[in-house]
Amino acid sequence: MNKLEELRQFKEEIALGGGQKRIDAQHKKGKLTARERLNILFDEGSFVENDVFVSHRCTNFDMADTKAPSEGVVTGYGTVDGRLVFAYAQDFTVLGGSLGEYHAEKIVKVQGMALKMGAPIVGLNDSGGARIQEGVNALSGFGKIFHNNTISSGVIPQISVIMGPCAGGAVYSPAITDFIFMVDKTSQMFITGPEVIKTVTGEDISAEQLGGAMTHNTVSGVAHFIGSDDRETLMQVRELLSYMPSNNLETAPIYATNDDPNRMIPEFNEIIPDNPNKAYDMYDIITKLADDGKIFDVMPHYAKNMVTCFIRLDGATVGIIANQPKFGAGCLDINASDKAARFIRRCDAFNIPVLTIEDVPGFLPGADQEYGGIIRHGAKMLYAYCEATVPKITMILRKAYGGAYIGMCNKELGADIVLAWPSAQIAVMGAAGAANIVFKKDIKAADDPNAKRQEKIAEYEEKFNNPYRAAEMGYVDDVIEPATARQRIISALDMLSTKRESLPAKKHGNIPL
Ligand code: HXC
Repeated sequence: MNKLEELRQFKEEIALGGGQKRIDAQHKKGKLTARERLNILFDEGSFVENDVFVSHRCTNFDMADTKAPSEGVVTGYGTVDGRLVFAYAQDFTVLGGSLGEYHAEKIVKVQGMALKMGAPIVGLNDSGGARIQEGVNALSGFGKIFHNNTISSGVIPQISVIMGPCAGGAVYSPAITDFIFMVDKTSQMFITGPEVIKTVTGEDISAEQLGGAMTHNTVSGVAHFIGSDDRETLMQVRELLSYMPSNNLETAPIYATNDDPNRMIPEFNEIIPDNPNKAYDMYDIITKLADDGKIFDVMPHYAKNMVTCFIRLDGATVGIIANQPKFGAGCLDINASDKAARFIRRCDAFNIPVLTIEDVPGFLPGADQEYGGIIRHGAKMLYAYCEATVPKITMILRKAYGGAYIGMCNKELGADIVLAWPSAQIAVMGAAGAANIVFKKDIKAADDPNAKRQEKIAEYEEKFNNPYRAAEMGYVDDVIEPATARQRIISALDMLSTKRESLPAKKHGNIPL
C-alpha cells in the first residue's frame, strides 16, 4: 500500500468513529453523528478537522487494546455565513463520547484557538461524562475546559448544544457558556441522574422529566432554546450566530434590508388598550418594529412575563428587553429579573445596543417572592443595566410604576434616550392603589366612599398618570407619536453609534449573584 492510500484508509476508518453498528444505533435514537452534525452547522464543505489522529494513552482495565477514533471528539473550524467559527462535537459512537484526558486536550486546544483568533466556539455535547477508566485525568480535563470557558467569557461568543446525555460535572461547561440549546426528547442535563436520586432520596423520576429539554427551557431556566431535532437545532445555532459579533472588539454584522428605517407604524397609535387592566401582546409591538418583522427569541418558554430577544433595526442587531402584559401583567419577579439581567450582560459584552420596552405594573408581591430572594435577583437587573455601557434606549408604552420603573432602565440607570408614548403612566404606583393610600381619610369620611374613591382616582390619574410630569423634569426625553417609534429608535441608535463610556478601573464588580 502506498503512503497516500495508507493516509486515505486511516482517515476513512477514523471517520466511521465507533463503527457502522454504533452509527446505526445513534440514528435509531433519532440522533445524527458528530460529523453529520458539523456538516449541518457549517457552510457546505467548509469544516476543517483538527487532531484527527489524536488518541488516548490510558492502559487501565482493557483500555490498552481499546481504540477510540479521534478520541471520541471531532474538533476544528469552518465558516457559518462566511464567518470563522470553531467547534467541537463529541462522538457518542466512540466510548459513549466519554471525556478522557486527550479528548479534553482536543477541546482545550480548539477553545484556545477560538480565543486567539477572536471567533465564536460551538460545543456539540453528547457524552456519558468523565471516562470512567481514566479516573482523575478525566476530571482534570473537565477542570481545564471550565477554566477556558470562564476566561473566554465576554471575549468570544460561546454556544453549547446538548444533543444527548450530559451528566455530572459535564453540565458545567455548557452552564458557563453564553447560550444553551437542547434537542427535544434526545438530550438531558443533570448533576445526578434518576438512579442516584432514587437511591438517595427515594424519588422516582424519568430522565426526561428530570433533565429533558422542556424541563430546562421552562422550569429551571438552564437552557435557552429548544429544537425539535438535531437539524432544526443546528439551524437555530446558525441563526443565533448571525446576530452576534465574532468577539468583544467587533460589532455584529449588518444585514442588508429593504425595510425602510423611516417606516411609519400607524397601528401603534391604536394598539394600547384604553383600559389599563387589559393585556395586549408585546410580540405584536416587537415584530412590527423589527426589520422585516423578524425576531430571534431568547428563552421564549421561561419567565414569559419578560421578553428577551434579538431583532435587527436598519440591518444592525439590537437586544430587546420587554415586559409582556399578556403574562402576569408583565410584573417583574425572580425569574424575569434573572432572565433580563443575563440578557443585558450578553448584549453589553458583545457591543449589542439594548432597547427596553416598558409596560410594568411593579415587582410581584408575595411571600414566595420575598423568601426566594426577589431583592437579590431584582438587584442583578439594576446592576446589569447600570454596568452596561452599550447604547441604551428605553421606550415607555404604558405602566412605569415605582421600583420597576427604575428597574426597566430609566435615565438614572443610564438610559441614553427615554421615549414615552402618550399612553405612558409614570408614577410611584397605579392610580387606584395610590388614591386608597393618600386619600384614605377623605374616602372614609365621605357620604358615598365609592364615589369619592373614583373621584380621587381620577384626580390622581389626571395629575400623575401621564408622561408629561416626567418629561417636564427631563426624565423622559420626548413624548412621541407611537407611529413614529421605529424611525425615532433608529435615529437614536444612529446618534448613539459613537457612544463611548468607560467604567472606573477595577478587578471586577461584585454583582449580587
Ligand atoms: C466510559 C462510557 C461512559 C463513561 C458510557 N460509556 N459512559 N465509557 N466512561 N462515562 C460507554 C458504555 O460503556 C458503552 O460502551 C457506550 O459508552 C454507550 O453507552 P450505553 O450505556 O450503552 O448507552 P446508553 O444506554 O445510551 O446510555 C448512555 C448513558 C450511560 C446514559 C450516558 O452510558 C451512562 O449512564 N453512562 C455513565 C454516566 C455517568 O455517570 N458518567 C459519569 C458522570 S460524573 P460499549 O462499548 O458497550 O458501546 C462526571 C464527573 C465530571 O462526569 C466531573 C467534572 C467536574
